[in-house]
Amino acid sequence: MIMKTLRKTLWVSLALGMAFVFFACSQQQTSPNTQKKQFIDSLISEMTVEEKIGQMTLLTSGWSQTGPTMNDNYMEMIRKGQCGNVFNALTVDYNRKLQKIAVEETRLGIPLLFGYDVIHGFKTIFPIPLAESCSWDTTMIRKTARLASKEASASGVTWTFNPMVDISRDPRWGRIAEGAGEDPFLASAIAKAKVKGHQGGDLSDSQTLAACVKHMAAYGAPIAGRDYNTVDMSKRRFKEVYMPPYKAAVEADVASMMTSFNELFGIPATGSHYLLTELLRDQWNYKGMVVTDYTSIPEMIDHGYARDEKHAAELALNAGVDMDMQGASYHEYLKKSLEEGKVTEKQLNKAVRRVLGMKYDLGLFEDPYRYLDNEREDRIIHSQEMMEHALESAKESVVLLKNDAHRGSKVLPLSKDIGSIALVGPLADNQREHLGAWHASGTDSLVTTVRKGLEKEFPNTAIRYAQGCDFTGNDKSGFDQALANAQRSDVVVMAVGEKHTQSGEAASRSDIGLPGVQLDLVKEMVATGKPVVVMVMAGRPMTLPWIDENVPAILNTWHLGTRAGDAVADILSGQTNPSGKLTSTFPRNVGQIPIYYSHKKTGRPYDPNDGYTSRYLDVPNSPLYPFGYGLSYTTFEYSNMQVDKEKIGFGEPLTVTVNIKNTGDRKGEEVVQLYTRDMVGSVTRPVKELKGFRKIALEPGQERRVQFNVSSDDLRFYTADMEYQAEPGKFKVFVGTSSADVMEKSFELVGK
Ligand code: GLC
Repeated sequence: MIMKTLRKTLWVSLALGMAFVFFACSQQQTSPNTQKKQFIDSLISEMTVEEKIGQMTLLTSGWSQTGPTMNDNYMEMIRKGQCGNVFNALTVDYNRKLQKIAVEETRLGIPLLFGYDVIHGFKTIFPIPLAESCSWDTTMIRKTARLASKEASASGVTWTFNPMVDISRDPRWGRIAEGAGEDPFLASAIAKAKVKGHQGGDLSDSQTLAACVKHMAAYGAPIAGRDYNTVDMSKRRFKEVYMPPYKAAVEADVASMMTSFNELFGIPATGSHYLLTELLRDQWNYKGMVVTDYTSIPEMIDHGYARDEKHAAELALNAGVDMDMQGASYHEYLKKSLEEGKVTEKQLNKAVRRVLGMKYDLGLFEDPYRYLDNEREDRIIHSQEMMEHALESAKESVVLLKNDAHRGSKVLPLSKDIGSIALVGPLADNQREHLGAWHASGTDSLVTTVRKGLEKEFPNTAIRYAQGCDFTGNDKSGFDQALANAQRSDVVVMAVGEKHTQSGEAASRSDIGLPGVQLDLVKEMVATGKPVVVMVMAGRPMTLPWIDENVPAILNTWHLGTRAGDAVADILSGQTNPSGKLTSTFPRNVGQIPIYYSHKKTGRPYDPNDGYTSRYLDVPNSPLYPFGYGLSYTTFEYSNMQVDKEKIGFGEPLTVTVNIKNTGDRKGEEVVQLYTRDMVGSVTRPVKELKGFRKIALEPGQERRVQFNVSSDDLRFYTADMEYQAEPGKFKVFVGTSSADVMEKSFELVGK
């Protein structure tokens, strides 16, 4: 009771104070920013050191773990004001219970943040991010983030640890599944779309979430593709390839940022003053809140960067970390470090200000229960809007890798009158695995299996299902049934690939082929002589050389989420014409890794006929499928590429135009890509860099002229002096259907 009266007195005095200030300067209306600052300043002035450290502490509830749980008495810590933020706590009822403790049982009643990994959906699951990036449709991707936020916020979540924007050029790394592939230009566009989608125009809107760009920085470049491993690269490579998407998210006003587990430039990111202060605050002027990844403060001991946990906590705060996720290192040691003068109260206040600022922007001080509405939760979760978008986004994420003829006719799309389909493979009648990595609270039972999807899409066709084999292991006892079904069916459709646990965090693979005996099963199906369609359902680019060589029709469908079976059935029947384009290069074998389109030419560029050039003895340099590649059931013809000038000055646009015609017999969508090449620089430059893209729909026979503008700003890079600028000289500009299939023109940048 005393607590309640105390708090009431405090709130009343705060309110009176505010009213007085407001009245005093009522002549010059106090701006919302001033009101926010005054409110936070007053609150901070009331806080004890323990309460400040409590606001800098984030602990997981017991509901779902995304890492080792360090501390399960978080509820008591909330009550004592020692834990101001919780993650992995879900549902209106449960989060209301925790919020009531914070608001009604603590001295200051500061509301909790509720964080969660809403990466590609909350309960309705959309395609994994790598899949959705293959749509190249930033409008659709933004809508996915908006709907995921609408569903998660209806269940009491206020903060998502998304977007993950880590560039990756190594498909052995399991978390390639969570990002937008290998290219900084595309990944930056997608990062912005996700931040805007999650946060909307007003964070206090109870259908939006505060976003959190991660993982700062360059987490996607671990040596040998092994998760959490050392990252070691030049500052130029970091700034040109890995840094842009984080910066893009900051420019999109992302509310928070998460540090990464890895070291960069020899220093763990969580203790990097360069990354978290010099770059983030001094150069980018970032005002948001920085949270660590899970226990990454104490992990600096293992890194060999901190003597002990107290030293680690000091290093993190001095680097610029505002909130400690699950380490409880700030909780344990910061007070003592403060007393010893190792950290200052000014630093604490800065961190607390950013945490309180997020809570203020979310409207939590106005109404701590604004995200806690049972009726809304029931109405929104799995709503028709969610389920329909899950289908649309899934269909746009599928990439057609091959569609050759089999005995004279194209295998895909399948005719709706086809008599029988032998459906084979471990992902054919499975629900959970289609949810993919980081599927939050995705509901397995609502996932449409491939089998169900085919039965719905081909009602007059005999669908003969046999699993054939499991995801892993050597058991081939299921082959016979699969063979028997194949031999008496018109076509074989295979659903093969990875379990959802074979990609994502702590899921790197040294061999990225089909796991288990799935490839043997494919070979058996091909040996029947029947037309075979292979659908590869995984969280990473896989090595598919035998399949590419011997199977006439190949769809890379990834893990597509709740509507997986409906989406692939639509594509198999031709109801939907696939339009996806790869955002990650597919290597021929794991030995080619790292492999990516924007490579350097070298002084001995590849020549298959000259031994003394940069090549392998056993495979060509080219990938199996290049960045930007994806087929359609129709065909597109590019013609008449033009540039409007031969020379441009700094700041002067070059207009690039090209005709694209749908030369097939069905409507289709094409992602027209624009690349440039700087022929000579003060440092060597890549053979291509993506600088623009347009996704266009064309009816059969329709032709459109597509226009891009390129200026000197688009040609900037980190010069020999690490200045970010364009240099005059000769350039090439490319337009095409993939990074390996382009038309080209030349131009010159003059001046300066
Ligand atoms: C994990 C992940 C991070 C996630 C966090 C909270 O270890 O690295 O991406 O947001 O913990 O679940």
